[in-house]
Amino acid sequence: MAQVIQSRPPGPKPRFPIGNFPLAHANPLATFERWTREFGDIFYYRAGWLRVYFLNHPDYVESVLVNQHQNFRKDRVVRNTRWIFGDGLLTNEGTPWLRQRRIIQPAFHRERIAGYANTMTSYTNEFMDSWKDGDTRDIHQDMMRLTLKIVAKLLFDLEVDEEAEKIAHSLNTLIGQGAGGRMIFPPFLRYLPAPAMAKVRRSARQLDEIAYRIIRQRRKSAHENGDLLSLLMQARDEDGSGMTDKQLRDEAITFLLAGHETTALSLSWAWYLLGLNPEVEKKLHQELQQVLSGRAPEAADMPRLTYTEKVIKEAMRLYPPGWAVARTALGDCEVGGYRLRRGDNVVISQWVMQRDKRFFTDPEKFDPDRWSPERAASIPKFAYFPFGAGPRGCVGQSFAMMEAILLLATIAQRYTFAVVPGHPVVPMPSVTLRPKHGIRVVLRRR
Ligand code: HEM
Repeated sequence: MAQVIQSRPPGPKPRFPIGNFPLAHANPLATFERWTREFGDIFYYRAGWLRVYFLNHPDYVESVLVNQHQNFRKDRVVRNTRWIFGDGLLTNEGTPWLRQRRIIQPAFHRERIAGYANTMTSYTNEFMDSWKDGDTRDIHQDMMRLTLKIVAKLLFDLEVDEEAEKIAHSLNTLIGQGAGGRMIFPPFLRYLPAPAMAKVRRSARQLDEIAYRIIRQRRKSAHENGDLLSLLMQARDEDGSGMTDKQLRDEAITFLLAGHETTALSLSWAWYLLGLNPEVEKKLHQELQQVLSGRAPEAADMPRLTYTEKVIKEAMRLYPPGWAVARTALGDCEVGGYRLRRGDNVVISQWVMQRDKRFFTDPEKFDPDRWSPERAASIPKFAYFPFGAGPRGCVGQSFAMMEAILLLATIAQRYTFAVVPGHPVVPMPSVTLRPKHGIRVVLRRR
């Protein structure tokens, strides 16, 4: 049996009185990378009062997220969002989490997802009708609007045309509030009488109103179409009671956010990388021509859109929409030979590990062909985990992959995007990895 070391692993020197606070650094991503180079696969730092172990090895991903998952709960950053997401699937814990996961899972079964393809492509084509050759746009904003419309329609049968702006704006304000060092601030700060906090409170109220309206309307219409909302409403406890409006509200807000922002990011970063890599773009166009010849893609085309899939996978390697996963230990345990105590935190970063040259040759290169079966065989299983891993891994993974592939294929057949010269494209690690100043592109009609 491996020996357990009682002392702490090495790490950056703590600064008095707050220790180290990487999220408050000017560039947290570079800070984590630098520390990893300096201190190795496991290092320790203190962020304010929090004890943090940073892990950078696929074995540790498996150890924390799979083998010992029951010994960890979501970390403080996620817990701090509970006032927004309540007991939704992302933030829930323990038995109530498992119950919700079991109810929700069928909405994401393969056969059901295949039925979503037509809505995804028809919404995309409709969305592009407002674009014109030569337009300059923020492609990230566009992808956010489009994926929000799609998830609202497919999971809640909701047309968000008039409401899209309100929902997008409110979610943006709430999530934007969680950037940088603010991520670990306690949620009660939202009660402060400051204008920024008033905006946050207003956004939360607006989302509540929308969510409760959706629920009221659906309860009244008794409309049953097998979407996520119907599944949630039909679910019954052993005592026959259904979900309360509050639980439905929590899931609605969770899925409106989790179901659009990350997929929009995977596409936004893919457009950015395609714009910088014309030889990859050319190969993509060749595949689209060969498989689709100008028609809209369907679910049945997925097995043949292999290069398109590799482009998405590779974009999520270099720019993972979820850039880190963090957990808090519920009890003492061992990771990487070190003894962790209850309340210790672990952080594992997709950004850092998916750019590690031990696992990815020429890691900075946008090289979709690294995902060909022969080459991918040498990548360790847990070195690439854009959707997390283990029982708390992304419930929407297949939905997201299909959506990203279909949208990329649909849009790339009609447009190419040239990144506006001089526009700074800067990844900003908030809850997700957003482009700080958006991604401004010029549209070219194909
Ligand atoms: C490219 C797109 C996506 C990425 C990169 C992504 C990433 C992730 C990651 C990393 C986690 C795990 C977080 C953790 O372990 O702490 C997660 C969980 C989750 N995702 Fe996604 N996601 C994507 C799309 C979606 C979509 C489309 C939906 C819903 C329609 C969704 C819903 C969720 C939910 C509800 C959870 C929590 C699951 C649970 O704890 O049981 N995600 N996602």
